Amino acid sequence: LEAILTRKDLKGKKILVSAGPTVEPIDPVRFVSNHSSGKMGYAIARAAEKRGGTVTLVSGPVNLDAPVGVERIDVETCEQMASQMLSNLDQADIIIKVAAVADYKPIDPKTSKIKKKDNNNKDLCISMAENPDILKLIGEKKTKDQFVVGFAAETDDLEKNALLKIKKKNLDMIAANLVGSSDSGFKADTNKVKLFFRDGSLFDIPLMEKEKVADILIDQVIKKMG
Ligand code: CTP
Ligand code: CA
Repeated sequence: LEAILTRKDLKGKKILVSAGPTVEPIDPVRFVSNHSSGKMGYAIARAAEKRGGTVTLVSGPVNLDAPVGVERIDVETCEQMASQMLSNLDQADIIIKVAAVADYKPIDPKTSKIKKKDNNNKDLCISMAENPDILKLIGEKKTKDQFVVGFAAETDDLEKNALLKIKKKNLDMIAANLVGSSDSGFKADTNKVKLFFRDGSLFDIPLMEKEKVADILIDQVIKKMG
């Protein structure tokens, strides 16, 4: 019944979504990552599919099943996510980059497990290099017909940081939320986001289930695309 009631307003559109964290190896048993659960990105992929879209979901490691009808491509590192996003970019009408990409990766991941005894009881230092900014690369390549959405989890200065990211990454929209509270952000089933647009306008989504946030976010994308 739900499938019948849902409007198919994304019919004929291709949506490319990224979700979850990336993990960057330190050695074969350890990695650098973050608290992303993938719930928000998966909710968006599911909502877009229900509304008739053809959805490709590039996903870091998460504990979630692939939404029915969605093509999921599993990745681990930022480099892998970048290559999958860029090779699927040309066909996409809407790109929604929800993934929490690790900003830095260990420069020299070891091929064998790091042993304490090899470190002579000293503090361990891991040199890290900045990862490529996938969304910025997408923003540079995007055509005028493509609509690009970023996400930003901030602890401070939400509006200022969101607007800077729209500019820096050439985005059409950014969905920003404050992290640090238990009812929104990484692990929660609910979220409270503000949508900022390239033209300076703002749309507030109050605290609600991530599934509902996903539908409202898609409403706003469709409205702005015209
Ligand atoms: N992003 C990306 N590649 C990166 C880092 C971020 O594609 N290497 C994307 C995220 O998927 C998200 C958006 O950029 O859609 C904003 O991510 P965020 O971490 O808020 O921004 P950064 O540019 O990494 O800035 P900072 O973490 O310093 O706030
Ligand atoms: Ca970041």
